[in-house]
Amino acid sequence: MTTETTKTILVLGGTGKTGRRVASRLRQRGFEVRAASRKGPARFDWSDENTWEPVLAGIGAAYLVDSQLADAATSMRAFAKLAATRGVERLVLLSARNWVVPEGQEKLPCERAVRESGAQWTILKPSWFAQNFDEDPFYRGQLEDGDVVTSTGDGVEPFVDAEDIADVAVAALTEDGHGGQAYELSGPRLLSLADVVEEIARATGRTDIAHRPVSPAEFAAYAKRQGLPEEFVGLLNMLYGWIADNRFADLADGVQRALHREPRDFAEYARTAAAAGMWRPTQPNPRAEG
Ligand SMILES: NC(=O)c1ccc[n+]([C@@H]2O[C@H](COP(=O)([O-])OP(=O)(O)OC[C@H]3O[C@@H](n4cnc5c(N)ncnc54)[C@H](OP(=O)(O)O)[C@@H]3O)[C@@H](O)[C@H]2O)c1
Repeated sequence: MTTETTKTILVLGGTGKTGRRVASRLRQRGFEVRAASRKGPARFDWSDENTWEPVLAGIGAAYLVDSQLADAATSMRAFAKLAATRGVERLVLLSARNWVVPEGQEKLPCERAVRESGAQWTILKPSWFAQNFDEDPFYRGQLEDGDVVTSTGDGVEPFVDAEDIADVAVAALTEDGHGGQAYELSGPRLLSLADVVEEIARATGRTDIAHRPVSPAEFAAYAKRQGLPEEFVGLLNMLYGWIADNRFADLADGVQRALHREPRDFAEYARTAAAAGMWRPTQPNPRAEG
């Protein structure tokens, strides 16, 4: 398949942070797109196999976002195999950089399922998305309140822009030369959560936002008070622990390899989101008055 393809491109997670951007870019370039998810224009539910076959009709390439459920790899294996047997030629999987296992050991089961599907594959392994800070209600709420509480300490992470992930996905879905590639995707800079808050404060002109580093136990208590589900609290504390340990504190070159350009800086993301009206304070700031 080349950019000349007349077949439709399936975008799973079509309402999500990357899927929405992938679908929009593809449409702008004139491709037929089927954006699918539980609440999307085409109904697709990882938990309901009856919805799988219909979204695959007439599809030439597919962007895959897993279910994040316990049986994600089993579903991914079955769906990727089904896609290949229905004539889908290219599969582009959104995986994660932070779940890479040590060199030489088994890769993530979802990645293995796609590699073994029989279709041409490309795997995207991004760092934390910058867009979590405005598109995820938990982070957006903390920033609006001016109190960003985490157990990341002063650890750093190379936050990647979802715009860059979408650009790489579109290239892999529509152009030759990306088959069999695993692209680790990061931003161009390592930032602590304090740095993130500083960038957002600068972009919004707010002086009342701070990062409050706490212990994992304190974060768990805080997150429960905020109403986060228990399993999500545990997952976040684990991911925060990896940031605190600087476990993935290095820059990747996947954006450069796939697109032959540099990734977008967090400051540019923050400026764009602030200009769109994000992170306005929920309460009048008493310090800013009088
Ligand atoms: N966020 C990050 O920082 C980050 C970093 C690295 C990797 N990742 C990976 O990126 C992927 C997306 O994560 P995200 O948290 O950013 O979410 P997201 O893409 O913003 O949203 C998830 C998408 O999946 C759809 N979806 C959820 N459950 C589904 C189901 N059972 N069946 C069909 N579609 C379903 C949702 O749409 P509906 O609600 O309409 O179904 C939505 O479009 C995950 O695999 C995650 O591990 C995320």
